[in-house]
Amino acid sequence: MGTLGLIGSAADGVEKIRPALIEPAIARGWQVAVTLTPTAGTWLQANGELQRIEDVTGLPCRTTPRLPTEDKPHPPIDCYLVCPATANTVAKLALGLADNQALTAACEVIGARTVPVIVVPKINTAHAGHPAWTSHVDALRSAGVLVLADDPLPAPGTEADRDLPWTKILDAVASVME
Ligand SMILES: Cc1cc2nc3c(=O)[nH]c(=O)nc-3n(C[C@H](O)[C@H](O)[C@H](O)COP(=O)(O)O)c2cc1C
Repeated sequence: MGTLGLIGSAADGVEKIRPALIEPAIARGWQVAVTLTPTAGTWLQANGELQRIEDVTGLPCRTTPRLPTEDKPHPPIDCYLVCPATANTVAKLALGLADNQALTAACEVIGARTVPVIVVPKINTAHAGHPAWTSHVDALRSAGVLVLADDPLPAPGTEADRDLPWTKILDAVASVME
């Protein structure tokens, strides 16, 4: 049994990670340790999902860094899955900007290349049209990160209608966890 480090950011679909990713991952025999970006944390706190995630995982759902005097609240991670990944979080990961707990954990393992990292962007054509987008994805791939591309991308304002390919994402995790 391995431990999946699931990192969720504030994109459409983050409200579904418990039924769509966490519970199926636990059913596959993995332990799941969840960290959210601060904005995703406020969303899931507001709709009650944060507490439900803690209940099903049996671990604290991290949204802030620990105090220097506190122990690490999560066990060692065997695979990180950043899903859903906003355009903002992908850009910060590519640049090594670690200004929240989710990015701190992911940036460190991307740099250390010790643990597989899978990133699932949830973006639209406007996000992908930013002049830096392609170089961000290329930078992550060149460091061995598996970036699952969505093709074709939805137009701005229509992405909420498009579900993430949850089973394909879990299969990608299985290919590196099992
Ligand atoms: C309802 C709502 C849905 C959003 N969906 C997305 C999305 O699917 N993809 C994305 O890149 N940004 C989306 N955003 C914008 C991000 O939430 C915003 O850029 C935020 O700063 C991302 O912070 P984070 O990457 O730290 O989670 C959405 C914002 C709102 C209010």
